[in-house]
Amino acid sequence: MKQVEPYTAKSFDLHGLNGISDRTMATHFKLYEGYVKETNRLMGHIQTMLKDGKVDQEEMPAYSELKRRLGFEYNGMVLHEYYFENLKQSGAGHPGHNSPFIHAAEMSFGSYEIWKTDFVGVGKMRGVGWALCYLNPANRQLSNHWVTLHETGNVAGFVPLLAMDVWEHAFILDYKPSERAAYIDAFFSNINWQAVEQRLNAPARAYKATG
Ligand SMILES: [Fe+2]
Repeated sequence: MKQVEPYTAKSFDLHGLNGISDRTMATHFKLYEGYVKETNRLMGHIQTMLKDGKVDQEEMPAYSELKRRLGFEYNGMVLHEYYFENLKQSGAGHPGHNSPFIHAAEMSFGSYEIWKTDFVGVGKMRGVGWALCYLNPANRQLSNHWVTLHETGNVAGFVPLLAMDVWEHAFILDYKPSERAAYIDAFFSNINWQAVEQRLNAPARAYKATG
């Protein structure tokens, strides 16, 4: 049976951000590494169960729980990579007037400001999760979504362009729980728009999602 290749945690050269301390980032990298480790561990358990070529009836409850948890851990790993990669020291609060992202936001929302109002609105929603701006690869429209925890609300086949972690661990060392809006302002001032635009310009997928 083919061995599943374990994931390796990436390292991110992220420090000196505006309004998000190095201490917060160090804590956050550790949490991310935990998701990578747990993803590998769950995949290892599942692989062991599959060794005899079947999932026995008595294995089914444990197998089901491993699969449910895998969605949480796997998305936790991947979303943090999107998040760290769309931040940078000396990032910018605005993508720049000729940017392809501005054009996409205008096509989808009428203006960048309305897109931002919607994205920030999602980020302020009560609950534990993420604000995600996606590209629908079929019609090149942007849409903003709330993702509960790491896995509930992701849209299959859509391309994440901008990921904003709004779990309290993303800001609690720098802001009070009630100050999420201040963290969101800080997040915006550190966006790596080049990374966002690379995602936007990635070759269109071969399949056709709902247009
Ligand atoms: Fe996080």
